[in-house]
Amino acid sequence: MLHNFGSINLDHFYRVPHLVRPGETLASRDYRVGLGGKGANQSLAMARAGGRVRHWGRLGRQDAWARDLLARAGVEVEAIALVDEPSGHAIIQVDDRGENAIILFSGANHGTTEQDLDTHFAAASPGDWLLAQNECNALPRVMERAVEAGLNIAFNPAPMSDAVLGLPLAHCRLLFVNRGEAAWLAGLDEAAAPEALLDGLARRLPGGETVLTLGGDGAWYQCGDQRHFQPALPVTPRDTTGAGDTFIGYYLAALQQGRSVTDCLQRAATAAALGVQVAGAAESIPEATAVERALRDGLLTPHR
Ligand code: RIB
Ligand code: NA
Repeated sequence: MLHNFGSINLDHFYRVPHLVRPGETLASRDYRVGLGGKGANQSLAMARAGGRVRHWGRLGRQDAWARDLLARAGVEVEAIALVDEPSGHAIIQVDDRGENAIILFSGANHGTTEQDLDTHFAAASPGDWLLAQNECNALPRVMERAVEAGLNIAFNPAPMSDAVLGLPLAHCRLLFVNRGEAAWLAGLDEAAAPEALLDGLARRLPGGETVLTLGGDGAWYQCGDQRHFQPALPVTPRDTTGAGDTFIGYYLAALQQGRSVTDCLQRAATAAALGVQVAGAAESIPEATAVERALRDGLLTPHR
């Protein structure tokens, strides 16, 4: 079982000709609300990929539909508390090239208490996985307790912040980072070559496995001296929101299914390539059948 201590957000999407500039008032051509949050997206991707995932989280009572949506996809949602607080939400601009800019409000995602953790950890067994991102509070405690409970930690330090540098990263078994996060952790410039970023990450996290996702430049896996490269699939992005989350969820489900590293990478990259062609975060996460078809036929037309 994988336990995902993760955010749940309502994503408010605005389609804009360019990302808003300082002092500018910009009219949006399209507006929609959907499920998001790095935590929820990763749980949903994992469930869609056929993985077993239990989501630990907090959501405003008025937004219970988001929990129902996760449940219908096969996520175990008993540990998602409905609370009398505003849900986390994100204001997302997406421009004509599919690039985005996001404002995040933590809301209920930052209300986790030690008592919540007692309940969550009571349902976990040694050898289970604990997945986390950087959108919830209590992360240092969650990691400490995961180590004590003998869980394998997978961590995605997104969105990156200085607080991440104080976490017990050496205890992480698997780290998912994008270019910016890798550069921050390795103390290098974002323009550094992937190999240099991987060297820097290896110095910082000697024992663990690292997956470095580079969007259109593919993805790397590293563990000790072992490295694999997965090229990106040639697609035209419409909305990259949630692409990293789709990658992570599909990767972890494949890992849970006992697949090889190269297979995990290929499935994850294929799912992400399908997702970037569809607007939205959770809504853009493909079903396993679409990913299987794309793996088999090389078809990378939008899945919806
Ligand atoms: O990774 C994408 C997610 O980041 C969005 O769904 C938004 O909620 C932000 O948390
Ligand atoms: Na998308």
